Amino acid sequence: MSEFKPQIFSGIQPTGNLHLGNYLGALRKFVALQEQMDCIYCVVDMHSLTAQLVHEDLKEQTRAITAAYLASGIDPVKHIVFNQSKVREHAELAWVFNCVARVGWMNRMTQFKDKAGKDRENASLGLLAYPSLMAADILLYRATHVPVGDDQKQHLELTRDIAMKFNLDFEGKIRNSGTGIDITVGDQPVHAFFPMVEPLIEGPAPRVMSLKDGTKKMSKSDPSDLSRINLTDDADTVARKIRKAKTDPDALPSEIEGLKGRAEADNLVGIFAALSDRAKADVLAEFGGQQFSQFKPALADLAVSVLAPITEEMRRLNDDPGHIDAVLKDGGERAGVIAEKTMKDVHEIVGLL
Ligand code: TYM
Repeated sequence: MSEFKPQIFSGIQPTGNLHLGNYLGALRKFVALQEQMDCIYCVVDMHSLTAQLVHEDLKEQTRAITAAYLASGIDPVKHIVFNQSKVREHAELAWVFNCVARVGWMNRMTQFKDKAGKDRENASLGLLAYPSLMAADILLYRATHVPVGDDQKQHLELTRDIAMKFNLDFEGKIRNSGTGIDITVGDQPVHAFFPMVEPLIEGPAPRVMSLKDGTKKMSKSDPSDLSRINLTDDADTVARKIRKAKTDPDALPSEIEGLKGRAEADNLVGIFAALSDRAKADVLAEFGGQQFSQFKPALADLAVSVLAPITEEMRRLNDDPGHIDAVLKDGGERAGVIAEKTMKDVHEIVGLL
């Protein structure tokens, strides 16, 4: 029994400003994981066509996300940073996965239901097949670990379903091609071409909530800018948004259990913990018994000290699109080498001449 080589893959869509949720749910984890495994970080520009076809400035947005990757501390030399459309095999493998995945699986995706709204007949076919392209992104590199926020959990379960069905449907052909690996899934032995990816979601802020409503996810599409902290916000704006964040009148509890039923308090404590690489219990041990009027300024100082250098570096990089384009070109070429090899094997397994 052997194992797939550990490999990280993750991606962010170039639509709208990045916010604190993207930073804590994804970017900050991306940076930390660089010390542990080989990482491939992608700007998934083709995914951006699924909900909205025509974009004013898709190229600019793609560069802006790349700038955020670099400004956060991702090393594009030791690891790989590129945009999805540079490597055509993403679309090619997605097509094979469209034929592996079932329409029922796609229809069950909560993000599809949310984005398609009531008029599902009028949603693009791309929006329905979105998770199939996402599975292709990951499995093209036979990635084993995927750092994401909690909202992507269902898509990663579907990625596992696609990998498993492909492995089982083609088991004999995988064996004949000599490209598979014996693994166990649960207690079932499988001769696998694609690994069963592990989502990396844990941490104190897997789902950062809106600053205006602790029951709603912080998101790019919320009409209220006060609901989120954008990575482009200046220090005064960050501090003002935290000051205005919704809270309840009680003091902070000293124990985790005391956060139950206090969504806004839980969210702010989680943000503090994630920004300082501490556990929520540890933050409460320090701030328990204090009022929000004391906690909020401490949180604002912390947020500014972490985010301001990133924002400044993003600005600097945004003025240097030539550098960003060179990073993406180099990353695309290196990703392309891996992708080409996987697709060659997939052609062999599936029987595409
Ligand atoms: P996207 O672009 O919507 O979000 C990028 C990352 O940010 C995380 N995130 C959050 N985390 C915590 N709290 C929040 N409020 C919050 N909002 C967003 C997301 O979970 C994500 O990790 N489908 C993906 C992009 C994608 C992808 C992939 C990811 C395409 N292919 C392959 C991983 C692997 C998406 O739309 O993320």
